[in-house]
Amino acid sequence: MAAKLIKGTEIREEILEEIEKEVADIKEKHGVVPGLVTILVGENPASISYVTLKIKTAHRLGFHEIQDTLSEDLSEEALLDLIDKYNNDDSIHGILVQLPLPKQIDEKKILNAIDPDKDVDGFHPVNVGRLMIGGDEVKFPPCTPAGIQEMIIRAGVETKGAEVVVVGRSNIVGKPIANMMLQKGVGANSTVTVVHTGTKDLASHCRRADILIVAAGVPGLVKPEWIKPGACVIDVGVNRIGEKISEKTGKKIAILSGDVDFNAAKEIAGSITPVPGGVGPMTITMLMKNTLKSLKLRLGII
Ligand code: GUN
Repeated sequence: MAAKLIKGTEIREEILEEIEKEVADIKEKHGVVPGLVTILVGENPASISYVTLKIKTAHRLGFHEIQDTLSEDLSEEALLDLIDKYNNDDSIHGILVQLPLPKQIDEKKILNAIDPDKDVDGFHPVNVGRLMIGGDEVKFPPCTPAGIQEMIIRAGVETKGAEVVVVGRSNIVGKPIANMMLQKGVGANSTVTVVHTGTKDLASHCRRADILIVAAGVPGLVKPEWIKPGACVIDVGVNRIGEKISEKTGKKIAILSGDVDFNAAKEIAGSITPVPGGVGPMTITMLMKNTLKSLKLRLGII
């Protein structure tokens, strides 16, 4: 039996419509809209396309958006000054510095300089700590894990008491999603195992998973025989495995592959996210949700 497809593209539309309505409502009642600044340093092609999409989405939702594009040789000091400017700008509720940064800039120093109350990426240590505590403490869950949890909830997958296995321990996906799934509350309350490059027998852990979340960055790592029949499989991998000419635009585009052997896995899993069109579209969507939340916190309406 083929698995149910969990389509990020469809869930994104549902959530963006919800955000759009709320933005219009707040604008009417309070005369303000969410403000988001994206800061891009250098010309990494993947970063350019992510930032362009973030700004386009913010624009569609009626946000006040600013895109700062800076040269590859920008100094750390200049970037810190820019962050300071936006920390003190009342029209800005979310500051996003696109990663990775050029090597002369200390990423940790930059992330730590963002006001935690405008850190809509959820990467500041204060927000990482809030996430660890859970419940009402959480202000800005990091966007990709938040998107994963939202997909699991909206797909109607039972999480309470479920065996969740997370493959990968990155600060952006593996560690935070593991932490979120073990908290009490909706879309969580699971028994969580994190496996990584130091794990002895990846396959045996994956086979136990009712919900398998794979964020390893290794194309095709998870084989169909590692999947428990009926499991929910969330593939976070976005691996560029080649290039092709787009039929739509005639331009060169990347060929993407996930961390899971999708064609074989979909015959065994109960539900599965495709790549592309699965987790990917959710990250930007949750960034918009966090920016709206930042404004609502500022207005004291949540
Ligand atoms: N680079 C890759 N993913 C992300 C993300 O979620 N946020 C930022 N700021 N940079 C990224």
